[in-house]
Amino acid sequence: MITLKNLEKVYQTDEIETVALSNINLEIAKGEFLSIMGPSGCGKSTLLNMIGLLDKPTNGMVEIEKNIIDGWRDKRLAQFRNQKLGFIFQSFHLINDLQVVDNVELPLLYRKGISGKERRKRALEAIEKVGLSTRAKHYPAQLSGGQKQRVAIARAIIGQPDIILADEPTGNLDSKMGNDIMEILEKLNKQEKATIIMVTHDERLANKTNRIIHLFDGKQVN
Ligand SMILES: Nc1ncnc2c1ncn2[C@@H]1O[C@H](COP(=O)(O)OP(=O)(O)OP(=O)(O)O)[C@@H](O)[C@H]1O
Ligand SMILES: [Mg+2]
Repeated sequence: MITLKNLEKVYQTDEIETVALSNINLEIAKGEFLSIMGPSGCGKSTLLNMIGLLDKPTNGMVEIEKNIIDGWRDKRLAQFRNQKLGFIFQSFHLINDLQVVDNVELPLLYRKGISGKERRKRALEAIEKVGLSTRAKHYPAQLSGGQKQRVAIARAIIGQPDIILADEPTGNLDSKMGNDIMEILEKLNKQEKATIIMVTHDERLANKTNRIIHLFDGKQVN
């Protein structure tokens, strides 16, 4: 469902040219739970951003569900991202002056034809899936790190994306909370058939996924 061909990303800033990714070839099957590992700076987030269509590759091809993503206008890209992809980040990226339920509703605000009532209903369902029903009216500052990440997961799944991209989702959490988050991701993968791509430094968590790929200096080493 996701194919990357000869993917290359070069960042050019003033004097320095950084080859963040080179010659990445990867096929990710529908329903797969894949982890990406490797040392700091090896290109993991860059790779996730390419798959998530948050940035364009310098060379090579990204194909998602038979769509070759090339030369698309921003609006089309944003729409495709909104419908197909859910994002989870290490630092949660919640909006602090919105309640949990309003944070979770956000992705649906950009979709046409969903009433406020329907939005609220689906937000509460997503919040229930991550076990946070009693906190729907809380603000992010009133939550623990693990709870914040669960809100971020609810927000990532409210639009029922086929693909979930998680960049070190347990990176800011202790191992107990990290395990809880991992269990939620595993459940989404098994029960809702979500394809999940997760960057992690935690070998123990990576070992629970279907496949691990290792990056080193922007290259895939296995
Ligand atoms: N916007 C950017 N402009 C210039 N260079 C960048 C940019 N983003 C990333 N880089 C460089 O590309 C390389 C890969 O960065 P990336 O963020 O993908 O690493 P990473 O594997 O996610 O690291 P970490 O584990 O620390 O998050 C690094 O050398 C980084 O400095
Ligand atoms: Mg990173």
